[in-house]
Amino acid sequence: PKVQPFVDELPVPPVIRGSRTLTVGAGTHRFHRDLGVAPTWSYGGAPYLGPTIEARAGEPIELTFSNELGPHLFAGDVDTTIDDHTTDRDRVAPRVSVHLHGGVTPPDMDGHAEDTFRPGETKFYRHFNRQGAATLWYHDHAMGLTRLNVVAGLAGLYLLRDDYDTGTAANTLGLPSGEFEMPLAIADRRFNDDGSLRFHTVRWIQDGRWEGGMLGDLITINGAVHPRLDVARGMYRFRVLNASNFREYRLSFSNRTRFWVIGNDSGLLDQPAYIDEMEIAPGERVDIVADFTGLGAGDSVDLINSFQYGPGFAQIIGAQTITSLMRFVGTGTAGFASAPPITLRGGKRQSPALPPAPTADRRRVITLTQWPAHSWPPFTNTLNNLCYQDDPIPEPRQGTTEIWEFVNISPESHPMHLHLVHGRILNRQAFDPIGYLASNPVPPVGTYWAPEPDRFLQGDPQPPHAWETGLKDTITCPAGMVTRVAFAFPTADELGFDPDATFPVPAPPHTGPARAGHAHTDQATAQGYVWHCHLIDHEDECMMSRYHLRA
Ligand code: C2O
Ligand code: CU
Repeated sequence: PKVQPFVDELPVPPVIRGSRTLTVGAGTHRFHRDLGVAPTWSYGGAPYLGPTIEARAGEPIELTFSNELGPHLFAGDVDTTIDDHTTDRDRVAPRVSVHLHGGVTPPDMDGHAEDTFRPGETKFYRHFNRQGAATLWYHDHAMGLTRLNVVAGLAGLYLLRDDYDTGTAANTLGLPSGEFEMPLAIADRRFNDDGSLRFHTVRWIQDGRWEGGMLGDLITINGAVHPRLDVARGMYRFRVLNASNFREYRLSFSNRTRFWVIGNDSGLLDQPAYIDEMEIAPGERVDIVADFTGLGAGDSVDLINSFQYGPGFAQIIGAQTITSLMRFVGTGTAGFASAPPITLRGGKRQSPALPPAPTADRRRVITLTQWPAHSWPPFTNTLNNLCYQDDPIPEPRQGTTEIWEFVNISPESHPMHLHLVHGRILNRQAFDPIGYLASNPVPPVGTYWAPEPDRFLQGDPQPPHAWETGLKDTITCPAGMVTRVAFAFPTADELGFDPDATFPVPAPPHTGPARAGHAHTDQATAQGYVWHCHLIDHEDECMMSRYHLRA
């Protein structure tokens, strides 16, 4: 459907604090003035998405989620061949699991993909918040359903604040707050003519395996299609979240004004990066301060996306660039005047300095593979050529640091996310995927495959982009590159809980024959954490794995 952009006001999700019970339920929402009312899902009775949960570092909160869903909003898109858990029952009684993305959370409260609950059931989550101020988010993580459940509306912001960060009486750093601070949750969506959501995915299917991605043709921000925001002359702090399943953005302002990136996934940077453009992949967050001081009454500036997909993608999956995402219109009134401080961490009045990049106890090669190898289009995307149930899985030791080298031999970029830990990007380096594959033929899916890329490296290692410095939980791993990330794995003592705990989960009902290289399981327990590609369609298919953090 055609809609007129920049007429609807940017909605700001309600803020909630403290322990409480939240529904996971169905509702309705009008995504745009020109669209009809759509059935939706949400948390806490919101029209779409969930309220912004605000918590303070060091103060635990308890959230009970109660699944009150009816039939699946995208019942026709439920794929029962995808894993051992997804069955026809999910069309009528959908499973959910609530994950706090970026949270340092015990395994049984982490929203593990296998730890799902159905309508009529509730699940209790305790978040310790024993970590620094950061822009986190919470979203559904049910095995095989995540891509559908998130588009239906199961996602929201979770802002963790401390004394240095604004939003408290202290506001030591003097960052824009109150009406001058808000989230921008960016997600591309597709709609039917009646205004209802359409789960549109382009899938290539071969031998029962598929690869695809949900791509929208309209952009929603906080649930409104191409909205506008009236802004005073001054600074605004935006917590930008890429809540899209698959789409990556290259963001800038239409007048090319620079902005400050003050933080990303896991909190504040050491100092702001003052730049005019940055990229954000699904699952990533950036904390920015934008300057509208020059915007007179009635003047406007647009938030622009200039991300270009390669020609293969542009044609085959219709990943055309969507240019103007939203519009800021000046009111001419005086706003928040001061620019961010030149350092955010390490000073007397500032947040503690970030730890330096640690030296590694071990290096681990992670191949981001696809099947068949190096073909176009790709089918199943895998991690080390394995699917979720396949062994071996990584077993890092508590109290050690590992460098994970993500070797991407697929033709697309994958944003890699580990639960529990935060990493530092060390560098990225190009390599020759053709030579690498020629010397190391890929075995059938299900056989571990992680050859060292050293002999095939090309050129010099590149440092992370300015907006990626600091600690991150979701890391873009571009095609044809080795991306090196240092993870310091905490001990149970540091965490205050056992990160390798085993806990009960619903046993998967077997559905049909196991696919090649894909073992069935009937386990009624899970252990530890998951790690995965945050292109949610990839995560649902085969690009998710487990890891155990061994004592
Ligand atoms: Cu945002 Cu495992 O996910
Ligand atoms: Cu991926």
